[in-house]
Amino acid sequence: MDKKIALITGANKGIGLETAAQLAQAGIKVIATARNEERGKAALQPLQDQGLDVEFVQLDVNDDNQRQAVVDYVTSTYGKLDILVNNAGIEADGGWMGNTVASVSQDVLRKTFDTNFFSVVALTQDLLPLIQKSEAGRIVNVSSVMGSLTIHSDPTAEVYGVKPFAYNSSKSALNMFTVHLAQALAETPIKVNSAHPGWVKTDLGTEHAPLEVAEGAKTSVQLATLDADGPNGGYFHLGQPLPW
Ligand SMILES: NC(=O)c1ccc[n+]([C@@H]2O[C@H](COP(=O)([O-])OP(=O)(O)OC[C@H]3O[C@@H](n4cnc5c(N)ncnc54)[C@H](OP(=O)(O)O)[C@@H]3O)[C@@H](O)[C@H]2O)c1
Repeated sequence: MDKKIALITGANKGIGLETAAQLAQAGIKVIATARNEERGKAALQPLQDQGLDVEFVQLDVNDDNQRQAVVDYVTSTYGKLDILVNNAGIEADGGWMGNTVASVSQDVLRKTFDTNFFSVVALTQDLLPLIQKSEAGRIVNVSSVMGSLTIHSDPTAEVYGVKPFAYNSSKSALNMFTVHLAQALAETPIKVNSAHPGWVKTDLGTEHAPLEVAEGAKTSVQLATLDADGPNGGYFHLGQPLPW
């Protein structure tokens, strides 16, 4: 099969849905996954109505059986995977204001890390043999500027006061995954990068965000479609590197 195959998590709304649309518009076959079948199928229908090559597959990233079912499906249907966009993410601290580190519960920390970190590692490991069958595998970890230790240590930084601890630390851990995996795969054609979408109008980003989803999906799409001479092991927003 000549067409590139991409798999996106959390593709029923927000940046994930828009990433599915933009990758499909670029001629890529998109496996758009979401944890809720009804919401996932309903969200994709308008894309399919436009003739975009997008299919729904159910995946709660925290569900071991569903992750295995997805691996089995991609193996038997396509035999390879060219692009993985680890987009699904949650903010469970209870909002963006204040600094939750002194009070955040173990439950919130664990829930947040399950979705934003542990399941990303597990899904990527599960799919890696299929990505290694691609001629030019691309892995995009949808992180956030909130995961930057450098920026969060700078009192002059715009987001310095925005410290939901579970969310921010889960994205820092995700960034470390990017760095380690990129190095582990450095001798292969696979490229692994972290994306900061910008502050985007979604349920997670809130209506106060300045960017529309069309802009917010661009960084994921750029990193998913990098040329052979593109970066590996970086952290980017719209082509600009961010400090770890
Ligand atoms: N918006 C921003 O300003 C911003 C900034 C920086 C980074 N990000 C990152 O961008 C990514 C997308 O966020 P968004 O703004 O588009 O938020 P969103 O509109 O809230 O979408 C989040 C997506 O993740 C899915 N999800 C959550 N838990 C899941 C699970 N266990 N299994 C599968 N899917 C799951 C959600 O599914 P349900 O609908 O079923 O809940 C939804 O599809 C996240 O990783 C976020 O951290 C966003």
